[in-house]
Amino acid sequence: MKLAVIYDSKTGNTRQAAEWIAEGMNGTGNAEARAFSIHDADEDFVRECAGVVIGSPSYAAQLTPDLHAWMLASAKKLAFAGKLAGAFATEQFTHGGAESVIQSILTMEMVNGMLCYSGGGAFGMPVIHLGPVGVNGNVEKHNGMERYRDNFIVFGQRFAKKAAEISGNG
Ligand SMILES: Cc1cc2nc3c(=O)[nH]c(=O)nc-3n(C[C@H](O)[C@H](O)[C@H](O)COP(=O)(O)O)c2cc1C
Repeated sequence: MKLAVIYDSKTGNTRQAAEWIAEGMNGTGNAEARAFSIHDADEDFVRECAGVVIGSPSYAAQLTPDLHAWMLASAKKLAFAGKLAGAFATEQFTHGGAESVIQSILTMEMVNGMLCYSGGGAFGMPVIHLGPVGVNGNVEKHNGMERYRDNFIVFGQRFAKKAAEISGNG
């Protein structure tokens, strides 16, 4: 079962989050997961995926303009409809808009006929609400993302298990 984690990233935080999600997916032993920037997504691979997770940095509490344009241009050609979907975000500050970013991505995914999944509270700790968030700035001076690593990995595991279940690859 193929899964893709697709992101926009200028300074590497969202790319790092995407790589952790893919690591969690691959760790289930039941997924071939790859992380792609919107600038170098393997389109054949994405079309064949059972699930796609999309992430963005918070830019003024919005997804990036590049990711927004990429989603508008790609949904049909990458056959998003019917796939399991998830969303994640990174931000510099607590309450820096990541939840709004995730909601916008989820909305675009639903408009394109995707089946959105977060794991939610179903599995207990860590409780992932709409999707995993990494805060890089005001938590620690250096590498603030590291403390969110487990959330991204666990989200990847939960997403891969659900994708396997609903696509008959379980
Ligand atoms: C133009 C711009 C706007 C930003 N706006 C916000 C914001 O509203 N809230 C916030 O917490 N961080 C904001 N940031 C910081 C980024 O969201 C944060 O550093 C993010 O992790 C960067 O992701 P990247 O390393 O994948 O590019 C902004 C950064 C840029 C460049």
